[in-house]
Amino acid sequence: MNIIITGGAGFIGSSVVRHLIDATNDNVLNIDKLTYAGNLASLAGYEDSAQYQFAQIDICDQAQLTKTLFDFKPDAIMHLAAESHVDRSIDGPAAFMQTNIIGTYNLLEASKAYWLTLTAKQQQNFRFHHISTDEVYGDLDSPEDLFTEKTSYQPSSPYSASKAASDHLVRAWQRTYGLPTIITNCSNNYGPYHFPEKLIPLVIINALHGKPLPIYGTGQQIRDWLYVEDHAHALVTVMKQGNIGETYNIGGHNEKTNLEVVNSICDILNMEITEKPNAIKDFKKLITYVEDRPGHDLRYAIDASKIQVKLNWVPKETFETGLRKTVLWYLENRKWWQDILDGSYQTERLGLQGT
Ligand SMILES: NC(=O)c1ccc[n+]([C@@H]2O[C@H](COP(=O)([O-])OP(=O)(O)OC[C@H]3O[C@@H](n4cnc5c(N)ncnc54)[C@H](O)[C@@H]3O)[C@@H](O)[C@H]2O)c1
Repeated sequence: MNIIITGGAGFIGSSVVRHLIDATNDNVLNIDKLTYAGNLASLAGYEDSAQYQFAQIDICDQAQLTKTLFDFKPDAIMHLAAESHVDRSIDGPAAFMQTNIIGTYNLLEASKAYWLTLTAKQQQNFRFHHISTDEVYGDLDSPEDLFTEKTSYQPSSPYSASKAASDHLVRAWQRTYGLPTIITNCSNNYGPYHFPEKLIPLVIINALHGKPLPIYGTGQQIRDWLYVEDHAHALVTVMKQGNIGETYNIGGHNEKTNLEVVNSICDILNMEITEKPNAIKDFKKLITYVEDRPGHDLRYAIDASKIQVKLNWVPKETFETGLRKTVLWYLENRKWWQDILDGSYQTERLGLQGT
């Protein structure tokens, strides 16, 4: 297959690109604007593969997208490009509205223009796979509740509201124009190549520097964590085997409070690091409670039984095995995150492009 991945230089997109090149013979075109969150170093070793191409394009540029689609002739588009950080969406929602809503609209229009030129059989086989989040469902009330594919949308943050809007657009393009779309809504991901502003990498890196480990409010917010490679595998399964017009929830059955997550990271680091910074004995001493995020949802949890029963997908990692792999990856790949912390990942990129 010829597959376009938007946002392939990001955390989850790069995992999907690596998975497709490692496990299939598919040709991959990575379309990415390379915002602060995009990092081609996450694809080191893959850029020379005959299966891989890269195009630096903003998904808000419909003309460029359309031309690229007609040139590459995709059989499927997996749409991951987005602004993804809730805190940034609170401080500056404009970029979220542009990329997540207008960008998705542009990609749908470019895809429709291309799809309409295909033969009937090609049209039937084409897939537009929109990658979304469980945050569109908002907060869960009781401890027994789970998000199913039928849960109503109640997004709380500018980020989740913009993702909810993009999901509605994708459904409308399927119902109105017949574009063969599929949507997946996934819980919180963690794993290698996660940008250091997000909770798990932030805590690992701050601990290694002896800096405070910030926890919002009381740390009782519950998230359902999924190892990123399990998500990438689920996405490729849905793209190849999922039914047109349907939604699949993806989750890891790993509900943890933020405080439990931070404590578990500290336990692993306490065992792995013998010489601790500032002569502290226990990384947990660095835990610092900070003022809660406005509109912070208390609990997300996914019912992933549909993808399990219909498409036979289950995650390989438990939270314990996945978290250990993640912490060890950050210990063994310091250059990847140090280049982000000192900003050189962006200057190296500019140098490479000669601009
Ligand atoms: N991270 C999670 O836990 C999680 C969970 C569920 C769903 N999702 C969804 O999965 C997708 C990927 O998330 P992620 O964590 O990898 O995000 P990320 O922030 O790590 O990566 C986003 C990528 O999109 C690119 N991008 C941003 N704006 C663009 C634009 N206008 N044009 C082209 N490229 C652009 C960035 O350069 C970056 O490479 C998002 O749609 C997100 O909503 C994420």
